Amino acid sequence: MLSCRLKTIASMVDTPNVIDIGCDHGLLDIYLVKEKNLFCIASDINENALNKAIKNVQKYGYQKMIKTVVSDGLEKIDVREDTTIIISGMGMHTIKHILSNPKAKRANKIILQSNNDLYLLREFMVKSGFMIENEKVIKEKNIYYVIISFIPGKQKYNKMELYIGPIILQNKIIYQDYLKYLQDKEIFKLKNIPKKYLSLRLKTYIKLKKIMGYIT
Ligand SMILES: C[S@@+](CC[C@H](N)C(=O)[O-])C[C@H]1O[C@@H](n2cnc3c(N)ncnc32)[C@H](O)[C@@H]1O
Repeated sequence: MLSCRLKTIASMVDTPNVIDIGCDHGLLDIYLVKEKNLFCIASDINENALNKAIKNVQKYGYQKMIKTVVSDGLEKIDVREDTTIIISGMGMHTIKHILSNPKAKRANKIILQSNNDLYLLREFMVKSGFMIENEKVIKEKNIYYVIISFIPGKQKYNKMELYIGPIILQNKIIYQDYLKYLQDKEIFKLKNIPKKYLSLRLKTYIKLKKIMGYIT
C-alpha cells in the first residue's frame, strides 16, 4: 500500500515521463504506471535499493514502462523536456547536489519533498530559474511533509514566502494545523535559547512575530 505522502506526489504529476531519483523500492513508479499510464525512469545510487525496485517492477510485469538505472542523481540519465523529476525523502543538501547537474534545467516540472531546510530549498530553486507551481502539506504518522512542485519561470518571493511557502500562505485555512506547528516550533526554540544569547533570542523572537503576523 502506497503512503499518503507518495500518493500526494503522484497526484501532482501531469507529464508523460517521470524520472524518480532515489526510487528505493520503486513503489511510486509502479503506482504512476498503474494509475496514470506513464513512462518512468526509476533510479537510485544504491544498487541494493535498485534491486528491490527491479524485483517489484518484475512482479507487476512493468519492465516496458519502468526503466531502472543505478545512478548518482542525473549522472547516467537523459532528461527530456516532457519530463517531471521527482526527488523525495531526502535532505536538502542531497537534493541540491542532484539538481546542481545542468540537465535538471531541461525538466518540465520538478517535484520535491525534502526532509529539512525548506527555506534554503525554495531559495535554491528560485535562483536556479524555477518558480513554485503548487505546494501540498500532508501529515503522516505525526510528521508533516511538504511537497512542492516547481516549473521553469521567474517569480520573486519574500523571506516568509520562502520559509512557509507562498501557496501554503494563500491557503491558510486548509493548512492552519501546519502553520500552528511552525509557530509552536519557533516558540519552543525561543524558550530553549539560554538568556545570555541575546541576539539569537531577539532574532528568533522577530521571526516568531513575523510568522504570527503572516498566519493570523
Ligand atoms: C529515504 S529513501 C526515499 C525513497 C523514496 N524516494 C521515498 O520518498 O520514499 C532515499 C533514497 O535515495 C537514494 N539516494 C540518496 N542519494 C542519492 C543520489 N545522489 N542519487 C540517487 N539516489 C540517491 C538512497 O539510496 C535511498 O534509496
